[in-house]
Amino acid sequence: MPSKTIIEPFRIKSVEPIRWTTREQREGLLRAAHYNLFLLQADDVLIDLLTDSGTGAMSTHQWAAVMEGDESYAGSRSFDHFKSSVQDIFGYTHVIPTHQGRAAERILFRVMCKQGDVVPNNTHFDTTRANVESVGAEAIDVLLPEGGQPETRLPFKGNMDVAALEELIARVGREHIPLVMLTVTNNSGGGQPVSMENARAVSEVCHKHGIPLYFDACRFAENAYFIKLREPGYADKTPKQIAQEMFALGDGCTMSAKKDGMANIGGFLCTNDDILARQEKDLLILTEGYPTYGGLAGRDLEAVAVGLQESLQEDYLRYRIASTAYLGDHIAEHGVPIVQPPGGHAIYLDAKAFLPHIPVEQFPGVALAAELYLEGGIRSVEIGSLMFGEAAKMELVRLAIPRRVYTQSHIDYVVEIILKVWERRSLIKGLRLTYEAPFLRHFTAHLEPVA
Ligand code: F0G
Repeated sequence: MPSKTIIEPFRIKSVEPIRWTTREQREGLLRAAHYNLFLLQADDVLIDLLTDSGTGAMSTHQWAAVMEGDESYAGSRSFDHFKSSVQDIFGYTHVIPTHQGRAAERILFRVMCKQGDVVPNNTHFDTTRANVESVGAEAIDVLLPEGGQPETRLPFKGNMDVAALEELIARVGREHIPLVMLTVTNNSGGGQPVSMENARAVSEVCHKHGIPLYFDACRFAENAYFIKLREPGYADKTPKQIAQEMFALGDGCTMSAKKDGMANIGGFLCTNDDILARQEKDLLILTEGYPTYGGLAGRDLEAVAVGLQESLQEDYLRYRIASTAYLGDHIAEHGVPIVQPPGGHAIYLDAKAFLPHIPVEQFPGVALAAELYLEGGIRSVEIGSLMFGEAAKMELVRLAIPRRVYTQSHIDYVVEIILKVWERRSLIKGLRLTYEAPFLRHFTAHLEPVA
């Protein structure tokens, strides 16, 4: 049995200073950034929880592999390392490297979908949805209803609603559904996992109708560890065995190696279909690069090859899941409303419940994120009405934890700052928009406090 105290399973060899600012400085910086944390300089942020994507720390093994990168244009040895590491875990016939996840999505949907098609997913991530829509298809979320209720505690709140999937297939017709996707873990729904039982049920429905099943695999290792912890029959399996079993239920996947690939850049697209793979590689050559590098350097392929295997190490995953839960549990025990239970890569504050006096039109999530920066130099991101407009189902603030970057004392500091803001929550004011772009407005929006 491991000890009760779950420590960081690494020691630190190279450090990167972070910079303090005063509250007065942050007031000016926040005004200059129009209360939109995307518009801050990263150097003015003390603890950056904007995203867990591409922000992780690489291991000594990864840096050593970087030096082994073979930068040959075609037939690079690094591609062989990459391909065999991916196939070891994912098991698919064709491995197509891409510069990040959304490039894999673009190629997949361009090849598989046409105008009028429908793509079901437990929850589409925003780039996934945008790439489905950009080819004229419709992206439909088929999440278990409880997945949209912040306070409901379920072990697998990322599960797809299998009955709703069956109904959707019956309603629109199998010929309009070129593929079904399952996102593990469900990022937009709170980093919640999908159970093996659910993946199996979805796979059975898909294959009964002859529809291919693809995984959006960004956080597959965290999902595998939740299965080990929570699903009967998996306690004695390794995370790798669990991941292999899950991917065997599907026909392919998209992956952003910036998450559970433990790399700062990279991704891939996999399929078992020879004909699709040929079309996908043709498209890859057109816009990403030759199929043995796909827009990455040989050294990036090496970093991902090693990182994928490291993400499945049990001591790492035990620490990863425990440290995210540590943040969530320590604020929840003081009454701070969060999406329950804590997810794999992030804690999501429920801004609507945190700031009930601020109406949705005044962006409670953006106001709360601004306040966390003001109080302690912490950067988070709103996932609510500024991001999704009227389509927003919840008003959340995501605190995403970069992999292997912050220690427990950093997280203790984050807890302290959130609790300070919680104490004076009734004094926090809403915000109004002063500028918005025609699409994806959250990246560039300007806001100001309401009087
Ligand atoms: N799918 C999911 C579930 C994601 O979370 C992301 C990225 C992507 C696809 C796209 O991958 O960024 O490599 O192109 N999520 C990041 C985030 C950006 O902050 O959650 P990408």
